[in-house]
Amino acid sequence: MPRPPEGERTRLASAQDLQVHFPRRSGPPLRAVDGVSFDVVAGETFGIIGESGSGKSTLARALVCLQPITGGALTLSGRSPASLSAASLRLLRRDFQIIFQDPRAALNPRMTVRALVAEPLEIQSIGTRDGRRAAVLDLLDRVGLGPEFADRYPHQLSGGQRQRVNIARALAVRPKLLVCDEVVAALDVSIQADMLNLFKDLQDELGLTYVFITHDLAVVAHVSDRIAVMYLGVFMELGSKAQITERPLHPYTRALLDAAPQAVPSYRRVHREPLQGEIPSPLAPPSGCRFRTRCPLAVEVCAASVPAWREVQPGHFVACHRAGEAMVSTDGTDLRSQGVRSAAR
Ligand SMILES: Nc1ncnc2c1ncn2[C@@H]1O[C@H](COP(=O)(O)OP(=O)(O)OP(=O)(O)O)[C@@H](O)[C@H]1O
Ligand SMILES: [Mg+2]
Repeated sequence: MPRPPEGERTRLASAQDLQVHFPRRSGPPLRAVDGVSFDVVAGETFGIIGESGSGKSTLARALVCLQPITGGALTLSGRSPASLSAASLRLLRRDFQIIFQDPRAALNPRMTVRALVAEPLEIQSIGTRDGRRAAVLDLLDRVGLGPEFADRYPHQLSGGQRQRVNIARALAVRPKLLVCDEVVAALDVSIQADMLNLFKDLQDELGLTYVFITHDLAVVAHVSDRIAVMYLGVFMELGSKAQITERPLHPYTRALLDAAPQAVPSYRRVHREPLQGEIPSPLAPPSGCRFRTRCPLAVEVCAASVPAWREVQPGHFVACHRAGEAMVSTDGTDLRSQGVRSAAR
């Protein structure tokens, strides 16, 4: 499906300072997602990368209304889910589906593939009984499973085949946006590429939009049009794939790229110290910049104040006090000569 020019594309999902805090019996809440802002436009693949515990899955669940937000705003297809009646919300939620990491956990072991793929259609009362039977075979075909799979049970399938059944279930209600949360992480490396190709083919055939979440830099760089880099509940950097993988500005983004030399072969790395230590607890995130406790460039200001989220080039956002100084590209080019504005205060 040809993609319309950027300016005319529909904003499918929009988050403004979105927060998800989990209350605790005592003490401050756990700030799993602590204020992120971004739009997802129709037809794109919006990648989110971040270490374990950075809040990716919580954000993913919020995007499909499985997790209530506790602050900021979420708009889906131009509407605020919180303002909708139960019936309208149910209709809206059809358009925003999610697939999770573990393809086995999501499937009832006592149901056949046919029943599993028909289930979302039944729940949403879509089509007649005969219509649903035909739809199931069509969906299985789309995800590369022949009709012989219809009568099998999940335990008779490989991990990749189970994930294909999950994709078929998600596609049954003809969503506009599919959130894919670590969908290839549990699969054998040898079949990950097949699965990523399937997602690409489905996007072309059905005009789907993806939010693709992973801790695997190679995967996110392969599939994404734009990439957000998440750390401890907030975005550190956001930009086009080229901006993030070729001209990264945030020390955290650079550390991720440095740590995975095979993931983005075109990224010209300079030798740096590998990322030290563990991600701090979201119960007590560091003051100022959350990355400062592990950042090789951290100075006093980084502890004293939260760096602003600034657009330093069209579409390229970064939150770093020192991004202005770190603007010499890893191949030695001074990015300021290419129009990148300093983000330093
Ligand atoms: N329902 C919940 N109640 C309380 N805390 C939660 C809940 N869900 C997630 N958390 C916490 O929120 C933080 C972010 O978790 P989340 O699962 O969103 O991270 P993630 O980036 O998806 O990590 P991973 O890469 O391991 O999947 C973690 O500290 C986690 O323990
Ligand atoms: Mg997760």
